[in-house]
Amino acid sequence: MSSQIDHLLDETRKFPPSEEFVAHTITSPELYERAAADREAFWGEQSRELVHWHKPFTQVLDWSNPPFAKWFDDGELNVAYNCLDRHVEAGNGDRVALHWEGEPGDTRRITYAELTDEVKRVANVLEGLGIGQGDRVAIYLPMIPEAIASMLAVARVGAIHSVVFGGFSADSLRSRIDDAGAKLVITADGGYRKGRVSALKPAVDQALADRGDGEQQTVEHVLVVKRGENEVDWTDGRDIWWHDAVPAASAEHTAQAFPAENPLFILYTSGTTGKPKGILHTSGGYLTQVAYSHKYVFDLHPETDVFWCTADIGWITGHSYVAYGPLANGATQVLYEGTPDAPHPGRWWEIIEKYKVSIFYTAPTAIRSFMKIGRSVPAKFDLSSLRLLGSVGEPINPEAWMWYREVIGANKTPIVDTWWQTETGAIMVSALPGVTETKPGSAQVPLPGISIDVVDESGIEVGNGSGGLLVITEPWPSMLRGIWGDPERYRETYWEKFEDQGYYFAGDGARLDEDGDLWLLGRVDDVMNVSGHRLSTAEIESSLVAHEATAEAAVVGASDETTGQAVVAFVIIKESYLAAHEPAGLAQQLRLWVGEQIGAIARPRDVYIVGELPKTRSGKIMRRLLRDVAEGREVGDTTTLADTAVMSIISAQVK
Ligand code: PRX
Repeated sequence: MSSQIDHLLDETRKFPPSEEFVAHTITSPELYERAAADREAFWGEQSRELVHWHKPFTQVLDWSNPPFAKWFDDGELNVAYNCLDRHVEAGNGDRVALHWEGEPGDTRRITYAELTDEVKRVANVLEGLGIGQGDRVAIYLPMIPEAIASMLAVARVGAIHSVVFGGFSADSLRSRIDDAGAKLVITADGGYRKGRVSALKPAVDQALADRGDGEQQTVEHVLVVKRGENEVDWTDGRDIWWHDAVPAASAEHTAQAFPAENPLFILYTSGTTGKPKGILHTSGGYLTQVAYSHKYVFDLHPETDVFWCTADIGWITGHSYVAYGPLANGATQVLYEGTPDAPHPGRWWEIIEKYKVSIFYTAPTAIRSFMKIGRSVPAKFDLSSLRLLGSVGEPINPEAWMWYREVIGANKTPIVDTWWQTETGAIMVSALPGVTETKPGSAQVPLPGISIDVVDESGIEVGNGSGGLLVITEPWPSMLRGIWGDPERYRETYWEKFEDQGYYFAGDGARLDEDGDLWLLGRVDDVMNVSGHRLSTAEIESSLVAHEATAEAAVVGASDETTGQAVVAFVIIKESYLAAHEPAGLAQQLRLWVGEQIGAIARPRDVYIVGELPKTRSGKIMRRLLRDVAEGREVGDTTTLADTAVMSIISAQVK
């Protein structure tokens, strides 16, 4: 990390927004002034302006029982009405909501009026299946319009969705369905990825299969979209085809108002323990901040802009900046089903040219992989519609930032590097594109209305020119309201560390430069960030240990040129297993095993079979030393190890 910091500190380039950008921007320094004058009043104003309240709220924030916040508590709204009906009622029904592009090249153009109709039908189907306020619905779908329609329909009837990324395994899906106690699963036969159909329904069938442990199954129905046209098994009475149920349902459905704090969704994310946490978000505060941040961070002009966020709806970025933010703001956006390189490496740039995308939001890992391929690929396409670029998910290194600006942004588009988390619900730190002078590699400043600081271990602010831990010092509207079913874990994970100060601990290291701009330095806990996706070392370790060959395992995140970090595992094999099996190919088997257990994104880049793991006298694995080995560095200080010879043995084994 220290070489990375030194490198960052050399970075002095600055890019003010162009005159042309400033002439048309909706962002202004006045936003900071208004927020600073009265933070709560500012959020109240934003909420009234950006959200339609069926019943207006009278109190902005109730923080009488920290860390459990209530925002706009006595107000009532319907989230789906805000994303759909109100735009149609305002005369914008003909505006395109979604330019959908399937991976094989099939397309659908869906207006706000059409999407509203579809969501009303789906809402009627859901109610027909007995889904109502507070019920949980798992969504396991590819990036197709039905995914958005499903999320909105669940929100419309006051139920709670739990979207599970389509790349997760049956086991991961099962644990999420069980934890939330889902009543319904919405899935598809399959979807297109990398030029072929990737099946989804079999994972649902497997997740719902009887385990013979007497556990009561909570899922009553499975609603299945036909997309991949692949053969699927069918359970009569449980499974329902979307194309039978939805078109037959009525397109009349009145959106009922629900309390501001009605839960909207649960989204599971990796923490420092083996079990993913169900992050809970509610309605009014979440919608306010996603609409606000989408509008100002992306300088949105809904009549003329075409917005494209490349995130999958299985992640928070897909929730906030594919589903809720853009639709609440009545934006036109692109939705793409497949991978960036199918069927050719210029697919994304081709889509930008085709739909004249003006605002593009993606992750550094994607940018770095395009850098590797070279600028000749994007150069073949007309990218002149782009006027603003965004980055999210992990620190963007200055080289990637500059490439993004020069090659994709024609050396003129502002870049907003946005720092936030599943837990924060919406963007917290970012430049405002028409106001801020941007710096390659820095996420820069808290958004107006957000209070962030960098503190030392005892909670004292480090001040400009120093590094420490990133904290959020005041509650914010889209903050998580808890961990599903585990309020104590919520308190412990995020609030205990700085209990005296009442700060939220984000788990990220950060530095403030002399101008007070923030530079994110990565996680300070056992959470890895692989291609902008969060993975827990403990979760992958428990998956490795669940394999019959494994006696012990330690996992570290090692820096990787393309994916930011990569999963590297060190595994001790059981003597008994070695006595009965050929060890050849075992490392590869273990890689695949993790992929099957958790999902392909968790598959280790390297699995090293070793004889020992470095442990302190109290038995704690020293991951720092393993990271040195994985990154090919000189191994650091080993004096606290129980057996100091272990590291030289491991280094030799890895070579
Ligand atoms: O470490 C930070 C990193 O991603 C973590 C949050 O991951 P997740 O909840 O999956 O949400 C990702 C998308 C919002 C953070 O704790 N992270 C996210 N954005 C940035 C970032 N690190 C540096 N710069 C960013 N812009």
